[in-house]
Amino acid sequence: MSSSNTLHRLFPIFLSVVLASLWLQATHADGTEIAEIAERECGTCHGDKGVSETPSIPSIGGFSESAILDLLTTYEHNFRKARSIQLDDGTETDMVEVIETFSQSELEAIALYYSQQTWTPIEQDYDRKLAAEGARLHKVKCNKCHINGGSVQESDHALMAGQWREYLEGEFRNFDDGSRRMSSKMQQKYETLNAEGKQAIIEFYISAGEF
Ligand code: HEC
Ligand code: HEC
Repeated sequence: MSSSNTLHRLFPIFLSVVLASLWLQATHADGTEIAEIAERECGTCHGDKGVSETPSIPSIGGFSESAILDLLTTYEHNFRKARSIQLDDGTETDMVEVIETFSQSELEAIALYYSQQTWTPIEQDYDRKLAAEGARLHKVKCNKCHINGGSVQESDHALMAGQWREYLEGEFRNFDDGSRRMSSKMQQKYETLNAEGKQAIIEFYISAGEF
């Protein structure tokens, strides 16, 4: 066997090793870059790694990729209104304006980044007795979609176990006055709740199941 023959046979292997390492470098660079973009562009409001420090802004770190992408389309479709938020530099912006500055593939990469973060329930005061009642109601009416009290990434919905009270109460109000649309299947269940039932479920979500 001549050495040039051996080289010929080895070349494809050599090439694939080179390509694989280039690919790894490229994806690594992209991953780091996306993390930086997400922390800079979304983290100003949603906090480091998607753990919000602002009671009116939801945590999103640990939501599934498809939950985040679905939720983003609800702004595009006008199913919910974005609230204007004042940034540290005094300028105001909202979710709709923010989303518009990104391509779909960038949003997918950012959603993937947040899905790789750990959901971190925020410790807050809550009414223990109401939370227990809320747990019962949630189990019957909401748990089919918002699995395990809204704590499971694989449910592919917004997580709610340990979400900020101010944000959650605001979303319940928006569902109540129709400024946020909900799916007809959720509506069927939601509309069977009275005001006290809703408050009980909110206490349950805020307790993160720890009541
Ligand atoms: C100016 C502040 C601000 C910035 C920047 C921002 N968001 Fe938001 N985001 C909000 C607020 C406030 C809400 C709550 C809904 C509302 O009232 O607009 C929200 C809601 C969301 C939701 C829905 C969460 C839920 O539980 O329904 C997702 C997902 C989200 N943002 C993702 C992102 C991503 C990804 C970025 C970066 C590309 C981003 N946000 C940048 C303020 C911001
Ligand atoms: C058939 C499935 C289903 C059921 C049952 C359901 N939901 Fe939902 N829920 C959804 C979907 C889908 C969304 C995302 C809505 C959107 O696209 O804006 C959602 C979103 C929410 C949100 C907003 C969370 C956020 O941060 O954006 C709240 C609050 C909520 N649901 C409460 C409830 C409550 C309370 C019940 C029980 C009474 C319930 N849901 C039952 C499917 C369901």
